[in-house]
Amino acid sequence: MDAQEKEELARITAKKKALALKGEIKENYIEEDNSPEEVPVDGEVRAGTMVFMKNCGGCHSLDAVDVKDMRGPSLGLIYNRRVGSNTNYESYSDSMLKSTFFWTAKNLYKFMANTHTLIPDTRCWLKKHPLHSKEDRADLITLFK
Ligand code: HEC
Repeated sequence: MDAQEKEELARITAKKKALALKGEIKENYIEEDNSPEEVPVDGEVRAGTMVFMKNCGGCHSLDAVDVKDMRGPSLGLIYNRRVGSNTNYESYSDSMLKSTFFWTAKNLYKFMANTHTLIPDTRCWLKKHPLHSKEDRADLITLFK
């Protein structure tokens, strides 16, 4: 992110925060908070790989560079990256592009179980097929880290 992009992001975030505090928008303003009570931190990479292959691998790769012909963006460097910021992926929904939060453990954990609390109209498969298992989500987060 260059200085101008950082400034723009700070401006959008401040505006969203102000609107959220006034109660005008609810979505997309999320405090950065990885409180361990909410996000189990003891996931397992091997198990995460299995969960990934079964549930995500059809549309997402784990490569650092985006793989062009997959339906979803590569998740290889997703951890702590800004949402919708994979510049090689060209099919993000508007709502994902407009979101300004980062993929912290807490945000990933929430998104996987309940996409609409973060991005109401995402095109990710998780919208209709949430990952209810806390263990599976913790394992995936450990894999992404
Ligand atoms: C059927 C295809 C499909 C499957 C399966 C799928 N996704 Fe997605 N995912 C997508 C698409 C398409 C997008 C882009 C969504 C948008 O722009 O709204 C996306 C976006 C995402 C993003 C945001 C990426 C970014 O660059 O900000 C995350 C995180 C994500 N998916 C996680 C997962 C996880 C974890 C799984 C498995 C548990 C999964 N997805 C399964 C299609 C899929």
